[in-house]
Amino acid sequence: MTTRVVVKTGSVLRAAEDGVVLFRHADGGEPPAFAEVAKALGPAFRQALKACGFEGKPAHVALVHTMGRLPARVVVVAGLGPRESTTSERVRQAAARAAQRARDAGCERLAFDLNVKGLDPGETARACAEGALLGLYRFTGYKTERGDDRREVRHLTLLATEGGLAAARAGARRGEIIADGVNQARELGNLPSNAVTPTHIAERARTLARAHGFACEVIDRKGMERLKMGALLGVARGSLEPPKLIILRYDGARPPRGRAARSRPAAVKPIALVGKTITFDSGGISLKPADKMEQMKSDMLGGAGVLAAMAAAAQLELPVSVVGLLPATENMPSGTAIKPGDVVTAFSGTTIEVVNTDAEGRLVLADALAYAIKRYQPRVILDVATLTGACSVALGQHAIGLLGTDPALIERVKRSADASGERVWQLPLWDDYYEQIKSDVADLKNTGGRPAGTITAAAFLSRFVGSTPWAHLDIAGTMWSDETRHYVSKGATGAGVRVLIQFLIDAAGRA
Ligand code: BES
Ligand code: MN
Ligand code: ZN
Repeated sequence: MTTRVVVKTGSVLRAAEDGVVLFRHADGGEPPAFAEVAKALGPAFRQALKACGFEGKPAHVALVHTMGRLPARVVVVAGLGPRESTTSERVRQAAARAAQRARDAGCERLAFDLNVKGLDPGETARACAEGALLGLYRFTGYKTERGDDRREVRHLTLLATEGGLAAARAGARRGEIIADGVNQARELGNLPSNAVTPTHIAERARTLARAHGFACEVIDRKGMERLKMGALLGVARGSLEPPKLIILRYDGARPPRGRAARSRPAAVKPIALVGKTITFDSGGISLKPADKMEQMKSDMLGGAGVLAAMAAAAQLELPVSVVGLLPATENMPSGTAIKPGDVVTAFSGTTIEVVNTDAEGRLVLADALAYAIKRYQPRVILDVATLTGACSVALGQHAIGLLGTDPALIERVKRSADASGERVWQLPLWDDYYEQIKSDVADLKNTGGRPAGTITAAAFLSRFVGSTPWAHLDIAGTMWSDETRHYVSKGATGAGVRVLIQFLIDAAGRA
């Protein structure tokens, strides 16, 4: 289901959509449209809001019928909380709740009044489009019988002022592209592993590359063998599904046409993004317990995020050069599977004792990171991975774990995260932790035991990035939600996608 977004000038009083949405702060100071609607609907409007206890609290919404006094059938009022703490995150959450409420009331077309005191029109439009589209996503994949959930909002209109129209259009487009990216990642994460195989993701990557004008190359098992990617191949050994190393290349950093070729800087070094793409993680021979094992169909969300970020960069025509790598395979037990104690030689030449086959993410990332650096000499490299259960022990589902070797890059990722509305929290990577991943038989072992599991996993990865500035996002705690919370969808959440896209937007701004 795609929802179209249109930005125009106009008043909610005349909007012909099924429903109109007004934002309102907790402390007085109503937007002009609010007073106009109150006048049109008479005292019943304020009485109705009072009756449902609406006070403008953050993300609280109330729905009022217009009884034929406005072209719209319903008015949804969405709370933003206290005026002095107005943020785009508040707008995003309120827009999501309002859109869900209007959908449940049967609105197919919905208009938002963008007038929010304390936020500029571009920011408001972006947050509003992003929040509504994220909030409206739900996975309906395989249901042959649908009841109420057949209702969908198909059309969003954002009403801007004459002066704010251009900024609102630009903001809404960003919000729309970002939300589309997140929703596409969610969809891949929610689809089962018998549909989303490495081969399926490679095909999807090719389709997106063709549609948005970036390059896609797929290295198969034979190619991996030629390249001696022993860590990635080790994980793939147990599965009948062919593994794929998917490589995406978007080069928006080319100088505009017509400029003398000589003035072009010697090949712009790209930003590299690497996403863990385990289409199903059974644990392998170190088999996981059955409880919640089905969630491991989402162990590819790092890769889905990288794919979404590439598509967004291309759609936004960002002037950056980006390469994305998705090491994609299942992790399965079988007679050919890698066994605890086996030693593999990674692409980099480093030997790894695989003491636990369930610590497979770091193995596939080790080869993808080293290969990305060797082949593309990126300026910086970021990886995103559903890497450690320990990350959700440390931070719960409310923050992405952030680790890395380069303080300046870490700061940039933190700033981009802040601007994106996603939370990241840095964990330390002190030398002491490296003791835990020393092996008696090889250069490294692939787990460091229970203490500081997120950190020792990152320490392992750091051994494959050399001196390239590197940052690692552990989305294991944030990738899944058991329930819908404002714009966070039940099931796969698409965590990390907004950080990645914002990082590319910010990198484009620096260029
Ligand atoms: N994909 C899992 C991590 C995970 C668990 C993500 C739960 C999301 C939800 C990863 O491959 C894994 O199994 N990690 C192990 C590492 C351990 C064996 C060192 C873990 O976290 O238990
Ligand atoms: Mn695992
Ligand atoms: Zn995994």
